Amino acid sequence: MSNPSKASPSGPVVLVTGATSGIGLEVARAFAATGARVIGTGRDQARLGNLAAEVDLALTLDVTDDTSVRIATAAVLDRYGQVDVLVNNAGIGLFQPWAETDIAAIEKVMSVNFYGAVRVARAFLPALIEAKGVLVQIASVAGRRGYKNHTAYCASKHALIGWSESLRGELAGTGASVVVVCPPAIRTAFFENAGYLTFEADHPGLKTMSPAEAGREIVRAAGERPDTMILSARARALDSLNRLSPALLRRVQKYK
Ligand SMILES: NC(=O)c1ccc[n+]([C@@H]2O[C@H](COP(=O)([O-])OP(=O)(O)OC[C@H]3O[C@@H](n4cnc5c(N)ncnc54)[C@H](OP(=O)(O)O)[C@@H]3O)[C@@H](O)[C@H]2O)c1
Repeated sequence: MSNPSKASPSGPVVLVTGATSGIGLEVARAFAATGARVIGTGRDQARLGNLAAEVDLALTLDVTDDTSVRIATAAVLDRYGQVDVLVNNAGIGLFQPWAETDIAAIEKVMSVNFYGAVRVARAFLPALIEAKGVLVQIASVAGRRGYKNHTAYCASKHALIGWSESLRGELAGTGASVVVVCPPAIRTAFFENAGYLTFEADHPGLKTMSPAEAGREIVRAAGERPDTMILSARARALDSLNRLSPALLRRVQKYK
């Protein structure tokens, strides 16, 4: 589903996975507002239909499916011949005690959040290197430390960050960059989709970031290319405290 009137014909080509909802949708909107040629991807056909009105191209792409990734990659490279920015954003949550978490559930989280991101990065890496472009990995503050009842989710995001940091070393000298973005809690359907219906009740008074603000920050990250961008001053302060003394952080933090 394409909408050729939206973008500048010479704007950078930006592909966003998981652009049918939440943070990815706002990243797609924020890039489109800069004149970029945005390819928004996802699985949900109804939401892809709505997305098509806001981006240059809305495309089916299931990050867990080799064939889907192959078809989408061919369609993008055939149409644009280049990709300047890949935002690996598609992701799912899983929030439950370890004792209640079975292996199949962990594999599902890893298959989207880690293997999915890796699969899409592999497909577009030659184009990103050619363009001296940027791979933006949407990780999480949960990729920087452990949170109780987040074992599988934290594992997937730690894996994504470790993989990204290793790849960054391998890309040195190519002109291509890897940027890891770590959002704090953002108000999207994410927690509800993961079956975590008591988030608000469990985190009274927690000031979450809006998806639109996160989208703008992620566009800034793609432009500035820091190694890592932790979104929100509060999350940066907690991260620094954790680096200094995880035990102290455990004592002072209200939200686990
Ligand atoms: N919300 C937060 O508090 C928060 C905090 C830190 C990090 N994050 C990360 O931010 C990213 C986006 O989360 P969100 O809050 O925007 O969640 P969301 O509103 O639930 O959106 C998730 C997106 O991922 C897509 N998706 C899920 N499985 C997919 C698959 N197999 N293939 C392709 N796309 C898939 C969904 O699209 P379809 O259903 O159309 O496929 C949807 O567009 C995730 O990586 C999440 O881990 C979120």
